[in-house]
Amino acid sequence: MRYFFLAYALIALLVVGVFGVRGQHFSKPPYRIFPDMDDQDKLKAQKPDAFFHDNHGARLPVAQTQPRGFNEDGKLAVGGIPEYEFGGQTGYYYTGHVGDYFGTGTPAELELTDEAAAAAFIHRGKERFDIYCSVCHGKSGDGQGVTSQYGVPGIANFHLDNFKPATYPDGRIFETITNGKGMMGAYGYNIPVRDRWAIIAYVRTLQTAKESQTKAK
Ligand code: HEC
Repeated sequence: MRYFFLAYALIALLVVGVFGVRGQHFSKPPYRIFPDMDDQDKLKAQKPDAFFHDNHGARLPVAQTQPRGFNEDGKLAVGGIPEYEFGGQTGYYYTGHVGDYFGTGTPAELELTDEAAAAAFIHRGKERFDIYCSVCHGKSGDGQGVTSQYGVPGIANFHLDNFKPATYPDGRIFETITNGKGMMGAYGYNIPVRDRWAIIAYVRTLQTAKESQTKAK
């Protein structure tokens, strides 16, 4: 029995020692062996801050700041700055649709009037495709991008017949980029309208290149 009380007392001591009595107040900062990023110099949105002379943490935009998607006169940039156009308008160029159907072909708004313009456009498409699509669809569009190596299933291979222009019109690619499809997220908020068409042109280029390669064999 004596040993029982001894053991009991020891265990009680150990428990109190390890977990301590909670709820005490200390006036000194605790010792921190790994401070991580507990203390940082930073501004918190909506909080006062002594760093600026007016003691506001939140700042007003610099004078003459031009909001994204607006022209200098403060008006919404409709048909104004292609880099800043993300859609919201009607018509084939902005939706990929012609009436109730998907359209196909190059919209006149792209103004690809000569070969140089078309070449530059496809180059732009390659650049954007490599940035936004190749991680999943692969640089050649075969669906074997880096994410597929990490197990993302079912990524479309653009060289299959069901993604060729005859079965999968340009407007449908536009729709997929804009709003996503099944497992694929939407890119309409990241990729401006004109760049979506550039990517489509490049996807078509990849398909044609692959076809002529297969034929040559
Ligand atoms: C995060 C990975 C990922 C990225 C990035 C991605 N996709 Fe996809 N995409 C997928 C997956 C997964 C599918 C298959 C979707 C399904 O059928 O559920 C798919 C399907 C598609 C399809 C066929 C949709 C259909 O109707 O079956 C097209 C066209 C397409 N992607 C184009 C693109 C283009 C163009 C880009 C670049 C702007 C892009 N994707 C970026 C993962 C991605």
